[in-house]
Amino acid sequence: MNGNGISRPAVVVIGASRGIGKAIAEVAAREGATVVLVARSPEALAAAAADLGNTARSVFTLALDLMAEGAARRLEAFLSENDLVCDVLVNSAGYGLRGGAAVMPLDEQLGIVDLNIRALTELTLRFLPGMVARGRGGVINLGSVASFTPGPFMALYYASKGFVRSFSEALHEEVHRTGVTVTCVAPGPVSTEFLERSGANRAALFKVLPKLDSEYVAECAWRGFKKRRRLVIPGLSSKLAIALTALVPSAVLLPLIARLQRRSKDPCPCGSGKAYIACCAVRRRSAQ
Ligand SMILES: NC(=O)c1ccc[n+]([C@@H]2O[C@H](COP(=O)([O-])OP(=O)(O)OC[C@H]3O[C@@H](n4cnc5c(N)ncnc54)[C@H](OP(=O)(O)O)[C@@H]3O)[C@@H](O)[C@H]2O)c1
Repeated sequence: MNGNGISRPAVVVIGASRGIGKAIAEVAAREGATVVLVARSPEALAAAAADLGNTARSVFTLALDLMAEGAARRLEAFLSENDLVCDVLVNSAGYGLRGGAAVMPLDEQLGIVDLNIRALTELTLRFLPGMVARGRGGVINLGSVASFTPGPFMALYYASKGFVRSFSEALHEEVHRTGVTVTCVAPGPVSTEFLERSGANRAALFKVLPKLDSEYVAECAWRGFKKRRRLVIPGLSSKLAIALTALVPSAVLLPLIARLQRRSKDPCPCGSGKAYIACCAVRRRSAQ
């Protein structure tokens, strides 16, 4: 606590060591906010804090794996030890996996549920009551254009983002009259390590779609949150992609997404261990 017995409000960014989270931390820091950067790698966090330089009034870093047991409680303890309160929570940590759900490792797929859904939900629900009691601040949750449709061959990722959008939009409606804002940000592909790590950039869909800059997405997210928006869709390309998913019937859209996200060299979803092109693709062609 400071001399008045009041904790300092902080912008707490989960997934702040790189990508969109880091860019949002930079925008908040430029406005003079106290920022808390959270991610797993201490080295990457130190580099991100150094990049913020003197722009932030204060920068704190916490190396934390949000998938670990008790992680949210550790974050709460860290904030109170440093006389901080979570004024704005930014949930940007998240990952995806491209490939057949029937053949990808189970644990890696369930990790998407743990991080993109469970950790985001726990953090939001832990900090929201304090925000409502203070009548200010809020939550920025990173969704995606993927939240608007099922996504065969990235099934869990798209489903996790569907959850994030539904949860965030509902919370916005519940709390916005209290002075608290919950904003879901739904960008299309953004040039970050996410695309390489998830394997998305090897799929035709992500080769054709234009890529947004993380700085641009961060500016849109922060501005939209300040304007107390429920949903922020950065860039025309993201808006067009969402409009398309609304217009095209699922019977057409889902096979199209499957085709654009599957690679013929991927392991066949039937589990034969062969490449798709040498397995079910051949059977489908000969059956036609
Ligand atoms: N890039 C895109 O095309 C795109 C498009 C739409 C939506 N999004 C969403 O936007 C969000 C940010 O994506 P990004 O592109 O910035 O990804 P990114 O570049 O891969 O950054 C992810 C951040 O999350 C942290 N992180 C990952 N696992 C964590 C864990 N278990 N505990 C704590 N921190 C963890 C990473 O640091 P450590 O590895 O050091 O922990 C890193 O700081 C994600 O939710 C993603 O789904 C991305």
